[in-house]
Amino acid sequence: MQNTTEYLRRHHGGNGDKAAEKTVQSYAKNHDADFRLFWESHCAAHLSDHASVIDLGCGTGLWLNELAQTYPQAKLTGFELAPYMLNRMDSLASNVEIISDDLNNPSTELANHSVDVALANLLIHELHQPVTLFCKLRRWLKPGGVFILCDMVRQPLADYLQHQYADIDLASQTPDYTALVDAFQHFQEHNRYHPEDITALLQQCGFEISAVETFKKGRAVRIAAISV
Ligand SMILES: C[S@@+](CC[C@H](N)C(=O)[O-])C[C@H]1O[C@@H](n2cnc3c(N)ncnc32)[C@H](O)[C@@H]1O
Repeated sequence: MQNTTEYLRRHHGGNGDKAAEKTVQSYAKNHDADFRLFWESHCAAHLSDHASVIDLGCGTGLWLNELAQTYPQAKLTGFELAPYMLNRMDSLASNVEIISDDLNNPSTELANHSVDVALANLLIHELHQPVTLFCKLRRWLKPGGVFILCDMVRQPLADYLQHQYADIDLASQTPDYTALVDAFQHFQEHNRYHPEDITALLQQCGFEISAVETFKKGRAVRIAAISV
């Protein structure tokens, strides 16, 4: 777990408080109108005040808090490991519970077939491997329960550098060495999977894919998968 925490701190730029603040600032963008439409169309039928919803890698818990406004009696559970995200959670709704666990290999045991909806928004690329979590999720979800996965996917290096590291001047005779090492390391970490890698893994782990849509000009994907 310690290794994962250290890995995350580096992946998040080395400054935990800044990373938590960035997560708060990116909340609206990562839960924009298109996300909400996708969420509504795949989850609405599963949501109610009796539902159990889990948010995997919930950051500072803002999505669960928002869900709590509509479903004040639902069982809303967030999983998070990074101490700076956990420390930044203030005024969580009374029906939101946070579990601190490493989702690479969760030690948590939720009751089998107890969860209606699971979300992993920008989590999967941060895991060392997602299969252990997918297998566990399959047990936690009710048959017919839905898993929404949103994440960055493979893109050409030139697009990535242009989008994320626009300040690195490759034409300069002395481009900043540290910035380049950081950019190439993050390129690997943000470009682990093609959308088909994720859908194939989900199917192999017992999910049925009900929708796949790419966004951000193909740099990200949203998947709705049903536990069968
Ligand atoms: C990019 S942030 C997204 C946060 C939130 N889902 C959102 O969309 O605003 C990914 C989150 O997953 C958490 N995370 C990454 N790896 C994790 C792990 N192995 N166990 C638990 N949480 C993890 C990170 O700490 C971070 O809060």
